[in-house]
Amino acid sequence: MGIMKKFFSQTKKPEGFLGKMMVNGMNGASHSALADWGFGFIKKEKAARSLDCGCGGGANVKRLLERSEKACGIDYSEVSVQKSRQTNAGAIRGGRCEIRHADVCSLPFENDSFDIVTAFETVYFWQNIDKAFSEIYRVLKSEGVFAITNESTGTDKTSVKFSQIIDGMNLYTGEKLKALLENAGFTDVEIHSHPDKPWLNVTAKKL
Ligand SMILES: C[S@@+](CC[C@H](N)C(=O)[O-])C[C@H]1O[C@@H](n2cnc3c(N)ncnc32)[C@H](O)[C@@H]1O
Repeated sequence: MGIMKKFFSQTKKPEGFLGKMMVNGMNGASHSALADWGFGFIKKEKAARSLDCGCGGGANVKRLLERSEKACGIDYSEVSVQKSRQTNAGAIRGGRCEIRHADVCSLPFENDSFDIVTAFETVYFWQNIDKAFSEIYRVLKSEGVFAITNESTGTDKTSVKFSQIIDGMNLYTGEKLKALLENAGFTDVEIHSHPDKPWLNVTAKKL
């Protein structure tokens, strides 16, 4: 495998040295601007419990803690779990945060546990997105919100290029995500696009 392919494939499941570098980058400025934009569409200002799926370096778990009494993160990469725990060490010590090693297709939480669930830059890699969405629906409370934020509209040139380099990366348009979300039981699906950038945010509710 070429070095570029090896490096970019780390976005799917960070592992080893390259994975550590990638996860440090995930907590950096480019993801941060996207996250600020995506968080702007979550109308719930205060939550008891929130969850970030595919939490990477844990920067968005930290953001969730600003509006939640307790925030959890899950990731199926050990490297991401370690970095997320480091990023949120204070809140973990204080009992307000928990980072679990888990696949989004099998969430280690009870039904109706969370007010907000987020997924930033990660749904492309979920190999069984139907199962993942039904798991998120299951763990959300009634009136809970699920927010997806992607640095890709599903058709922009850069992401199409990445999807050709990274095996198993699937791109989604807002309409495609809406159909998948409704199929999993979600309602009030809203699609938001950025005026200048190929960014996409989709929010959905569990009634
Ligand atoms: C590009 S990173 C994004 C990380 C973080 N959400 C951010 O915006 O900085 C994608 C993350 O999703 C995780 N991931 C991908 N598929 C997953 C799955 N099925 N279950 C749990 N985590 C997953 C990867 O391990 C990786 O940490």
